[in-house]
Amino acid sequence: MILPIYLYGQPVLRKTAEDITPEYPELKTLIENMFDTMHHAEGIGLAAPQIGLAIRLVVVDLDVLSEDFPEFKDFRKVYINAHIIETSDETDSMEEGCLSLPGIHEKVTRPSRIHVKYLDENFVEHDEWVEGYLARVMQHEFDHLEGKVFADRLSMLRRQMNKGKLLNMAKGKVSCAYKVKRVVR
Ligand code: NI
Repeated sequence: MILPIYLYGQPVLRKTAEDITPEYPELKTLIENMFDTMHHAEGIGLAAPQIGLAIRLVVVDLDVLSEDFPEFKDFRKVYINAHIIETSDETDSMEEGCLSLPGIHEKVTRPSRIHVKYLDENFVEHDEWVEGYLARVMQHEFDHLEGKVFADRLSMLRRQMNKGKLLNMAKGKVSCAYKVKRVVR
């Protein structure tokens, strides 16, 4: 089932998301719905706050990138209760976009490598260092779990350049090809 994606301005995107247990109601269906929603919107990652739930659940599908990055063939992952433990000093700059901020694409500087702990869909614990494109996607998605969006990480100048778009978005004035939950004022 395709769920509406909550857009910038929705309070749920500013909440700190909470850990869940395997008893979380209808978790399997929720995960399927998140994949459907993300695929419909042509995204590569989606965090639960983006569908209105302040829980630590993220889905990622990088298969669409497998032409350029063969290691991402059939790369579909579920990250539950993910936490970033430490980050590298060295950083990378890469363009990002977000399904909750349609029409904004900006370069964001982030650590190149991250040490993460998370559970997979079977609630098996993982503890690993991640680098490259995946580290980028994880950091973007896990930011959503802390109530942050990538626009928060832009320089003053770039934020200023996008101020109008963000203000309009927060007022619900935005057009979008996929199903969204916009702010009504
Ligand atoms: Ni996002």
